[in-house]
Amino acid sequence: MEKHFEALVQGLIDEKWAMVDDFIPKDKIDILKKDILSHFNAGDFNAAGIGWGSEHTVKAAIRSDKVLWLDSGNQEKDSFYRYYISMMNDFKDYLNRELYLGIKRFESHLTVYEPGAFYKKHVDQLKGANSRVVSCIFYLNENWQSEDGGQLRIYPNETDEVNYTDVLPIYNRIVVMLSDDVYHEVRPSFKKRLSITGWMRADDTLIPL
Ligand code: OGA
Ligand code: MN
Repeated sequence: MEKHFEALVQGLIDEKWAMVDDFIPKDKIDILKKDILSHFNAGDFNAAGIGWGSEHTVKAAIRSDKVLWLDSGNQEKDSFYRYYISMMNDFKDYLNRELYLGIKRFESHLTVYEPGAFYKKHVDQLKGANSRVVSCIFYLNENWQSEDGGQLRIYPNETDEVNYTDVLPIYNRIVVMLSDDVYHEVRPSFKKRLSITGWMRADDTLIPL
């Protein structure tokens, strides 16, 4: 795991983002995947929103994924994800040791893009605000091909629409990026696309929204 953390940190330093494949043991993922689908099918997911606190609104023209927060007090649900969350807490400690980022906690939600869903170009943290420091997205999609869409498109800056890098949301891949600096979008997905999306936060706020 240390080897993976090292590669992710090096990428953050060099490119502001990084990706690692074969991140966790496969038997751990299969149980997560089953649980995500059963919660999704039970209608436990909500339309994702934009903004925080009183500014929070659902804007389907900007994003159309559905989410289920993990750290909102649902112990039973969270237990399935204990392995992943504890590993990301180790990554938090590693980031603080290596880069002195002052991260206080890791928050995350399960994410489903149904066919047709997308998320337009954005950064995860507005400049000046500093609560979200590093974004971490873990993908759980077997046999994902380019024609299935749903690419994470990473741009060099806010205005450049040409020199992007596309990353497929494939099984057991993790992407990390600086939350206030990396412009990215999720291209329309043509198949059901599963991920766990999380942020390393520099504040203690316990309510995610
Ligand atoms: C997000 C996001 C990217 C992805 O949730 O903020 O940009 O690949 N996700 O799912
Ligand atoms: Mn994002």
